[in-house]
Amino acid sequence: VAAGLAVQNTLSSQNEVQTATREVTLLFGSETGNGQTLAEELSKKLAERDFKVTLSSLDDFKTKDLKKVQDLLIVTATHGEGDPPDNALSFYEFINSRRAPKLKDVRFSVLSLGDQSYEFFCQTGKDFDKRLEELGGERLYPRVDCDVDFDESAAEWIEGVLGTLGEGQQAKSAGETLLAQQQAGAGLLTEEQPAYTRSNPFRAEVLDNLNLNGQGSNKETRHLELSLDGSNLAFEPGDSLGIYPENDPILVDKLINEMNWNPEETVPVNKQGDILSLREALHTHFEITRLTKPLLEQAAKLFNNNGLKELLAPGQEEELKAYLEGRDVLDLIQNFPPEELPPGDFIKTLRKIPARLYSISSSSKANPDEVHITVGTVRYNAHGRDRTGVCSGQFAERTQPGEVVPVYIQRNPNFKFPADRDTPVIMIGPGTGVAPFRSFLEEREEDGVKGKTWLFFGDQHFATDFLYQVEWQKWLKESILTKMDVAFSRDTDEKVYVQHRMLEKSRDLYQWLKEGANVYICGDEKYMANDVHETFIAILEKEGGMSHEEAEEYLNDMRRQKRYQRDVY
Ligand code: 2AM
Repeated sequence: VAAGLAVQNTLSSQNEVQTATREVTLLFGSETGNGQTLAEELSKKLAERDFKVTLSSLDDFKTKDLKKVQDLLIVTATHGEGDPPDNALSFYEFINSRRAPKLKDVRFSVLSLGDQSYEFFCQTGKDFDKRLEELGGERLYPRVDCDVDFDESAAEWIEGVLGTLGEGQQAKSAGETLLAQQQAGAGLLTEEQPAYTRSNPFRAEVLDNLNLNGQGSNKETRHLELSLDGSNLAFEPGDSLGIYPENDPILVDKLINEMNWNPEETVPVNKQGDILSLREALHTHFEITRLTKPLLEQAAKLFNNNGLKELLAPGQEEELKAYLEGRDVLDLIQNFPPEELPPGDFIKTLRKIPARLYSISSSSKANPDEVHITVGTVRYNAHGRDRTGVCSGQFAERTQPGEVVPVYIQRNPNFKFPADRDTPVIMIGPGTGVAPFRSFLEEREEDGVKGKTWLFFGDQHFATDFLYQVEWQKWLKESILTKMDVAFSRDTDEKVYVQHRMLEKSRDLYQWLKEGANVYICGDEKYMANDVHETFIAILEKEGGMSHEEAEEYLNDMRRQKRYQRDVY
């Protein structure tokens, strides 16, 4: 719903038309919502400066209008292995196809969001930037690539773009400026800006922290209940909770010991000059569990270690990539011991701990002032050491009820349940992927809505891994949930997955699709979501007599109509 409303939003008002007003087309590709939030922020600033702004997701923009565009701004995230986000895919394909028009009269600039620890850092933004130039566009401001802690670099790009665009814009009279400021101010007041955000998280008390798996399970899935009391934070089913985790104190101490540092020595933690003790800084502020190429490059300058220099030498790219995989900062200093190294110098090379996002598994109507999440504990052994995920490990091993964790709400406009309550809903969520569907059904129960709903759930064993079993059964009885199919992969000799159940029910599923059902897929991306996608294609071929291409196009159409949505990780 929210995404639908944000679409093609022309922000200048009718009575403000000026002859010199330039039109700016501002398009975003967003997976978790950050790209969209930044685009909306820039759009407001442009509107205040009397630009006529067209704001939409890349895919909602009508590509036939591309030729008419004057100034084109793109804010885009990158997904997985350098892929465009779901709501940028068709625009990406179009602009890279032969059908893309020449853009001689277009000025453009790109802001790309990404994560340095991925090989294809900011790739989608880089691709757009390069392609727009190839098509003849003029770069009005250089592309900026942002790492996970994007606030500063994004603000720089926004200011830069505003400055450059402003040069061509007719200056306003003092009176007009005042009016615009008053309007902007009034807008802020009425719009009720949330006080707690990603950069100013709410300290939420942990109310409950349970393991949902039974004894003997291979898995540990934590159900966390957190208090949002007093935060004024609101969310809808499909949204996520951002959490700033803390590093394992044992790992922090090992690191400090290894370097013979004094844990109580104070170090600066940001440009504003805030300081913390070294132990506290490494515990709560800096990322120490991932290595990136830029980190190693900076470390090489400080460490004076030949091995590290060799690893970074030209021609060693494959070795470097392999080294970065699964290692942390402790490995780095053990493998390439630095010479004398003051901790203050070293921590300048580290990134701020990025927040983790978890799909919310509760409804605020059913549990006011609370938020629940469902977290799979990540444990593995790599390079001779047992390791845990930073956030999931914290919940599994340390976080007790009564403690507080810094959180914020991350809206997810790309995973929204239908506004029309009669639209049938098909949900596919094996493992922790079931989280948003619990939120959705809790909300339906509160609203007393009984449109058709169908849930496919899967996990390893019926006896130990049937997450929230009692709740699904209750909702089935109350017809909040119409149908449920389960696939327990390790109870039988042959593995059964959700997509096998889907195939068994292909005729019914096709019928639901024809009746206009929306499809929601949540959970593992690499294997599950792709296999489920292929299964939908197989179902459309089998039941709808479609060719492979027709089936693909059918699902693409559904995606464009926001009837096929994914929250995958
Ligand atoms: P497995 O662990 O036995 O392989 C939730 O994690 C469930 O998803 C588990 O039952 C897991 O099975 C299953 N799963 C693993 N790979 C999958 C895939 N490609 N498609 C669907 N389910 C999968």
